[in-house]
Amino acid sequence: MKKCILALVCAIMIMPMNAKTLVAYFSATGTTKVAAEKLAAQHNARLWEIEPAEKYTAADLDWRNPQSRSSIEMNDPEERPMIKQCTDVTPYDTVYVGFPIWWGICPRIINSWLDNNEPQLQGKILIPFATSGSSGIEEAEAYLRKTYPSLNWQKGLLLNKR
Ligand SMILES: Cc1cc2nc3c(=O)[nH]c(=O)nc-3n(C[C@H](O)[C@H](O)[C@H](O)COP(=O)(O)O)c2cc1C
Repeated sequence: MKKCILALVCAIMIMPMNAKTLVAYFSATGTTKVAAEKLAAQHNARLWEIEPAEKYTAADLDWRNPQSRSSIEMNDPEERPMIKQCTDVTPYDTVYVGFPIWWGICPRIINSWLDNNEPQLQGKILIPFATSGSSGIEEAEAYLRKTYPSLNWQKGLLLNKR
C-alpha cells in the first residue's frame, strides 16, 4: 500500500515535468482563463498567464469609448503593451495561444508576446484559441498567419460556452 502511494506521489510530481504542451493565454475578465484551464487539464499541459505589466481596468476595456486604452491599442497595429514576465517556451513542442477576441482579432498584448518569443517558437505547433461575445476565430487566425508567417499555425479553436 505504502509503495502504491509512493508511486502515485512520484507520478504526480513527474507528470508536469513531462508535459510538452504549453497553454499560454491572456484574459482580461476571466472567460479565457477558464477555457485555458480546461484545455491545459485536457492536454496535461503547463498553464501560463500572459499578464500585462499594467492590468486592464473596466474603463480600459470600454470598446464604446474611442479614447479607452483598449480602443487606442486596437486602433494602432504597432501598439505593443508591456508584459509583466517573460515566458520560457523552449521546453514545449505544442503551444496553445489563447485570448479574448477584441475588434475581431487578438488583443495587441498577444502581439507583444509573439514578438518576444518569435525566434523560440519557430518549428513548434501553434494553436490559437479564443473566447468572444459572438465573433468567430477565423479573422484572428488569418491575422496571426499574415502577421507571423514563419510560425506553424494550426486551425484555431473558439471555446465559447455552449
Ligand atoms: C475591447 C474589447 C473588444 C471586444 N471585441 C469583440 C469582438 O470584436 N467580437 C466579439 O465577439 N467579442 C468582443 N469582445 C468580447 C470578448 O471577446 C469576450 O467577452 C471574451 O470572452 C472576454 O474574455 P476574457 O474574460 O478572457 O477577457 C470584446 C471585448 C472587449 C473588452
